[in-house]
Amino acid sequence: MPATFSGEWSSHLTYRVNVIGTGYVGLVTGLCVAQKSRHQIHFIERDINKLNVLKSGQMPFFEPGLEALFKANRKRISFWGALSDEDFATPTINLICVGTPQSESGTADLSAVHSVATELRQRTQNGAKSHIVLVKSTVPPGTVEHLQRAFFAGSKITAGMNPEFLREGCAVTDGLNQDRIVLGVHDETAWRAGRWLYRGFRSPLIRCSPTEAEMGKYTNNSLLALLISFSNEMATLAQQTEDVDIRQVIDIVMHDRRWLASAKNKNPAVASYFWPGCGFGGSCFPKDVSALTAFARSRYLELPCLEGILKTNRSVKIAFAELAAKQIPNNGPICLLGLAFKPETDDIRESPALAVIDHLLQLKRQVVVHDPVAELPAPLAAAGVKLYRKVNEALKDAAGAALITSWPEYRKLTEARLLKQLKNPIFIDGRGFLADRQFKKLNYTRIGRK
Ligand SMILES: NC(=O)c1ccc[n+]([C@@H]2O[C@H](COP(=O)([O-])OP(=O)(O)OC[C@H]3O[C@@H](n4cnc5c(N)ncnc54)[C@H](O)[C@@H]3O)[C@@H](O)[C@H]2O)c1
Repeated sequence: MPATFSGEWSSHLTYRVNVIGTGYVGLVTGLCVAQKSRHQIHFIERDINKLNVLKSGQMPFFEPGLEALFKANRKRISFWGALSDEDFATPTINLICVGTPQSESGTADLSAVHSVATELRQRTQNGAKSHIVLVKSTVPPGTVEHLQRAFFAGSKITAGMNPEFLREGCAVTDGLNQDRIVLGVHDETAWRAGRWLYRGFRSPLIRCSPTEAEMGKYTNNSLLALLISFSNEMATLAQQTEDVDIRQVIDIVMHDRRWLASAKNKNPAVASYFWPGCGFGGSCFPKDVSALTAFARSRYLELPCLEGILKTNRSVKIAFAELAAKQIPNNGPICLLGLAFKPETDDIRESPALAVIDHLLQLKRQVVVHDPVAELPAPLAAAGVKLYRKVNEALKDAAGAALITSWPEYRKLTEARLLKQLKNPIFIDGRGFLADRQFKKLNYTRIGRK
């Protein structure tokens, strides 16, 4: 952690932290920061009843450990009904913690965030000091960039996204021991201010763009929600099936070692399944999901999460073929790297490569494919697809390449080698297999990044 800031921030060891909104997020965050630092925390709450409760030393809602945290830090916290110009006499860190409820159309209602942004802009416009605004409210991707452009342009405010992941009921424990602190900031001063704010916390710090931070929060919650809905679908099915208790089913699933973190890798092995690509294949997943879906239908059950799995998988493969056809010019064959459904096998049953080849042929594109062991089905060979055992032979004079299977030997593909072999410098990475590389001249595309 840096001990100082540059410029006007450097003379301050503690900062004025304005926490705007004292709901679960604002109150818990402000008190946890107070506990872990020496910053002065100014809570701003516009609900007069709540404000009076807080001023009288009471908690406006029950949350284990909150009152004790409040009492322990009483000296460095204060409560206000509104921001004032004096709040901005020194550089400040402002945490926006207001609600973002669902609007009638289903979108997030950002009116409270916008009204705070307008007020921050007005309060700071005559001052010479610079200020940091971190949005802790859950907001849709692009919101902070929009605040910076539409509300703070020309001001001395730099905005960033600092999503909150606490769970009500254990919010204080979560707040003091955060799984991660995400700082979505472009600007160096904002990054250092965020680090300074959370310097007493021992949580991993993740720096990313504001939009990634916003999407990270939504993805986190959506994945958890998906697990709940999926387990509920399985429970519905169990309920319609003789001699099945869903708890027993879940116990069987949870004995899979992939749910456990190993000593060498802090992520559970199942995390590798939460990694986008050009779809799954093989002899088990497609067949088993399909069979379970049919079984549910035989019981007149509609289970959209389950049905959605194969539907999404089909469209992902087609979308990948469309992407390759769009990006790779039609001045030579498209080279597909990998035919097997996963590395270290020659099994091509339901392999994404087959669906991609089919679709490219329908689009009248020429295809060559490399795989170290898998065999090309005869109908594809008859349709003019060529299979190579050597990567260089497959790449040579191809119009561009698309990686489908993560064979270890593809790690040896260097930028120079690809540029030398391919007619056009285009490489589409369907597995994010080379995502850790920096390419200068190669036009490198991977799934999940615009
Ligand atoms: N509650 C959770 O478990 C949780 C967890 C993570 C993220 N979040 C997100 O954090 C945000 C806040 O959630 P919450 O549960 O704390 O909301 P909340 O509705 O309980 O609290 C928001 C507070 O902000 C106050 N407020 C609104 N406009 C204001 C203004 N202009 N000035 C001062 N105060 C103002 C409101 O009076 C209210 O007390 C939401 O976006 C939510 O989705 C909530």
